[in-house]
Amino acid sequence: MPVAGGPSRAPRKSIAPARSGGHTLPVTLIRRETESDRAAVHAVQDAAFATAQHASGHEADLVDALRGGEDWVPRLSLVAEVDGKIAGHVVCTHGRLAGERVLGLGPIGVEPALHGKGIGAALMHAVIGAADAVDEPGIVLLGDPKFYGRFGFVLAEELGVVPSDPNWAPYFQVRALANWGEELRGRFDFPPAFDEFG
Ligand SMILES: CC(C)(COP(=O)(O)OP(=O)(O)OC[C@H]1O[C@@H](n2cnc3c(N)ncnc32)[C@H](O)[C@@H]1OP(=O)(O)O)[C@@H](O)C(=O)NCCC(=O)NCCS
Repeated sequence: MPVAGGPSRAPRKSIAPARSGGHTLPVTLIRRETESDRAAVHAVQDAAFATAQHASGHEADLVDALRGGEDWVPRLSLVAEVDGKIAGHVVCTHGRLAGERVLGLGPIGVEPALHGKGIGAALMHAVIGAADAVDEPGIVLLGDPKFYGRFGFVLAEELGVVPSDPNWAPYFQVRALANWGEELRGRFDFPPAFDEFG
């Protein structure tokens, strides 16, 4: 019996872009970052944040700093590939909450020319599903609730999680996963690289 993706699969004549909502998602592969993607990931994060409203300008350096640290989670650094080129990147790394390792998401960036086509959403769905599949309890992030609410993020204070800076509270969100537990309450700290480059 043919197995999906196996050698007996008939070649596809064409791949139609997926339609969702008001946009057409170009044929997009979401996959783990490999070593040969590093320069392209740096470039796409740089480009994404170059004109972003709330940017430090060091987001690409932040990714590189995180990659060299103990909180890096290789299976949760994902790229979006469009026409063989890296068009977006998202990463989750281990912060600390109630003495436990809990994921913090960021940065996420998409090539500006491809904004609004669903690539950011595809990266979000993929990284959330991957984190849930490997029994991570949840994901914390700082961002606009209008964008992240659609992926199941809620204000962190609803779950008793607080940021290190109280001013972040309106943007500080958590996505609880299957392994979330009531004991996960208190202050969440992103990995130390965020203090330097965030
Ligand atoms: C945020 C980002 C990753 C989204 O990627 P994308 O491929 O454009 O996203 P999608 O096409 O899947 O979704 C577009 C939606 O996100 C919204 N959106 C885009 N950037 C947003 C932001 N920074 N905050 C809130 N909403 C945002 C758009 O208004 C649009 O909303 P709509 O579907 O209601 O029209 C991309 O815009 C980006 O790289 N921005 C610069 C870097 C950045 O700001 N990262 C997030 C920091 S918290």
